[in-house]
Amino acid sequence: MRHLIDFGDLTRAEWDSLYQRCSDIMDHPADFMDACRGRVMASLFYEPSTRTNFSFQTAMLRVGGTVFGFADPKSTSTAKGETLKDTIKMVSGYADVVVMRNPKEGAAKAASLYSDVPVINAGDGGHMHPTQTTADLTTITRLRGGVDGLSVGLCGDLKNGRTVHSLIKALAKFKGIKFFLIAPRELAVPEYMRAFMRENDMWFTEVTGLEAVIPQLDVLYMTRIQRERFVDPLEYERCKGIYVLTRRKLDRARKDLLVMHPLPRVDEISIDVDDDPRAVYFDQARYGMYARMALLTDLANQERKKPDPVEIGTKPVCSNPNCITQTELYLPPLVKQNGGVDCCAYCDKELR
Ligand code: NCD
Repeated sequence: MRHLIDFGDLTRAEWDSLYQRCSDIMDHPADFMDACRGRVMASLFYEPSTRTNFSFQTAMLRVGGTVFGFADPKSTSTAKGETLKDTIKMVSGYADVVVMRNPKEGAAKAASLYSDVPVINAGDGGHMHPTQTTADLTTITRLRGGVDGLSVGLCGDLKNGRTVHSLIKALAKFKGIKFFLIAPRELAVPEYMRAFMRENDMWFTEVTGLEAVIPQLDVLYMTRIQRERFVDPLEYERCKGIYVLTRRKLDRARKDLLVMHPLPRVDEISIDVDDDPRAVYFDQARYGMYARMALLTDLANQERKKPDPVEIGTKPVCSNPNCITQTELYLPPLVKQNGGVDCCAYCDKELR
């Protein structure tokens, strides 16, 4: 069964063919209106969402499928103490594809171990968000003609911003990318992402100031400071409002810069930027729907298949308090290697 848990699950060739399909859908939407006829998508949102939830739902409807699900877990048996495993086993009996967003890191990976149908990760805590990346790559490819050789500034909460982690994973599949990672020290990328960039020989520099690097960028990817992921509210107070992109700051930027943002924005892009032709974040949200149409036509048409039984865990091997293994104690203790170091196969954090 092919799932989409992490952008690393896709090869470059698979992405290229997905983009080709996405492009065909944008150019000839009528040809795809029955591509998922008779298929049913389960939409399980344990965390707030506007774009991801709506764009997945509209994507499935536009390719002829139907949708059920929830946007608030309080209305489900999770509130009665049902495990993720039981919810997924049951839902995967009703649906042909499961789209899940969950506040715990590694939740989608955990769900995929028990699902008879493909699981799509619509965001797992501060870890990964691969379908946002399909929107991001579609935007860049459509508007710039390609991705190779670009200088990409990633700005804001690079520690907790899952869209950033997935985008870095994806850009490893392209040539000549330069990353300018713009964040305060407290919100710098997690060590597992740094190890990933080193392992893949990616060019990157970490800086704290936005203005000095703006003139060098082809893409500026702004992100929100992720208030809900802070353990200490005072730390959020210290970090909020740290970067604000204004029209004036764009004066020194390239004429063909793409200003991107996964949205929602709080205050990191001032609204006077919206009418600048370089601001493409609302287009990006729309491209996300087409990218999800392409993804669903690919994944949701697979044959249902019972997964092989997995070991029953007894205690978490990972010490990350936000890891799914901390609450779903039956999960098998899966370990993987990142840059020669043992890491949790659910949340990627180094095991100590
Ligand atoms: C992002 C997310 O949920 O991670 N939003 C989205 O899916 N477009 C970004 C964010 O919440 O800041």
